[in-house]
Amino acid sequence: MCARCREYREAMGDAGEVLYSAKAFASPGFLRVVAAEGLGVDVVSAGELGLARAGGYRGESIHFLGNNKSLEDVAAAWEARATLVVDGFHDFDLVRQVLPAGAGLRCLVRISPGVRPDTHEQIATGQLDSKFGFPIASGAAREAVERVLAEDRLRLAGIHCHIGSQILDLAPYRRAMAAMLDFAAALRRDLGLVVERLGAGGGLGIAYTRQDRPPSPGQFVAALRETLERGCRERGLRVPALVVEPGRSIAGPAGVALYTVGSIKEIPGLRRYVAVDGGMGDNIRPKLYGARYEALLASAPAAPPTQTVTIVGKYCESTDVLIADVPLPELRPGDVICLPAAGAYCLSMASNYNGVPRPAAVMVREGRARLLRRRETLQDLLAAEVVEVPGDPPALPMVAVDGSEGAQTGLQRPLGE
Ligand code: LLP
Repeated sequence: MCARCREYREAMGDAGEVLYSAKAFASPGFLRVVAAEGLGVDVVSAGELGLARAGGYRGESIHFLGNNKSLEDVAAAWEARATLVVDGFHDFDLVRQVLPAGAGLRCLVRISPGVRPDTHEQIATGQLDSKFGFPIASGAAREAVERVLAEDRLRLAGIHCHIGSQILDLAPYRRAMAAMLDFAAALRRDLGLVVERLGAGGGLGIAYTRQDRPPSPGQFVAALRETLERGCRERGLRVPALVVEPGRSIAGPAGVALYTVGSIKEIPGLRRYVAVDGGMGDNIRPKLYGARYEALLASAPAAPPTQTVTIVGKYCESTDVLIADVPLPELRPGDVICLPAAGAYCLSMASNYNGVPRPAAVMVREGRARLLRRRETLQDLLAAEVVEVPGDPPALPMVAVDGSEGAQTGLQRPLGE
């Protein structure tokens, strides 16, 4: 993960900024390491901002995105003096309610460049039909820029886009960059505005299986820089600072999910199910995006496969399948199997479905291990619950429908009576 952060930083040089997209995996201990590597961070909620601050982030190196920010989100962004990425006209109302006049909070305007990358449709965002970004084609992008210029609570630092995730081909990035530069050229021509920063988003794909051949972070940044510099030359524009915000390509390859084998069910002539102590609660990606993983036996990762099995989880859903038809060596209950490339969008999208506590996260480096996040307990599951024990006095005075105290109606009787 440090090597990937460095590869991004070195490829970027002084041409711009690299942010880590915290949605991929946002443990403060992890963010602290990313921050030490010189990367900024992108967050999408007051909660993620809180995690980033706990990871040591401050100020404009935090970019606050989101298509439906709340008042609390904007207040948190203002309090942290983060860079606000405006994404929708609603943001202007929130900014007026939260920020004092003349605040001059640094912002970017998120543009929808009208480019569809070749990725799973659930993780494509750059196309016109998307909830994200101001479309160029409809004139909304232009209007948003003009409204920022007229709002002294905001200070326009540039424009931003993000076309999607798990993208393995760099061509859509070149198309998005061309659309953004055409837009920048129109802003200069019509408004005399010089775009100083251009956000190209994240989205670089990673290898989940041996067949995947993603470009490296270095190739990704080099392609963007080259497209940006050439595109600016062709349009007679000053080259803006480039901003990229990768998530998966930093956290993904760093993470290995470990599962312990439990029940093994054989349906002769049909299938062998190997059930593990996790599943869709800690990795929803196979079901949500048809994501494919590989698996290895942790104690003998190079052992040749002797069987084809289907790895399923422990959740009460037939759909709780982690990997169908995967070749593995002989397995016994208690064996540990690992799924590589599980560092991004697994734990950060985990749930407590079926009352299963979420697993621990451990950071390992040169043979040393450090706990980033402990395994959850029953106490964590109960932490936000309001539990009334039968026989306890009711927490609130009971009020009858007519408002008089002390009367009991079926509606107000506490649970358990
Ligand atoms: N910037 C913006 C505005 C984004 O929306 C995202 C991801 C990123 C950066 C980081 O993208 P990355 O480099 O990680 O691809 N849960 C899905 C991925 C959703 C991505 C959402 N946005 C998955 O598991 O594949």
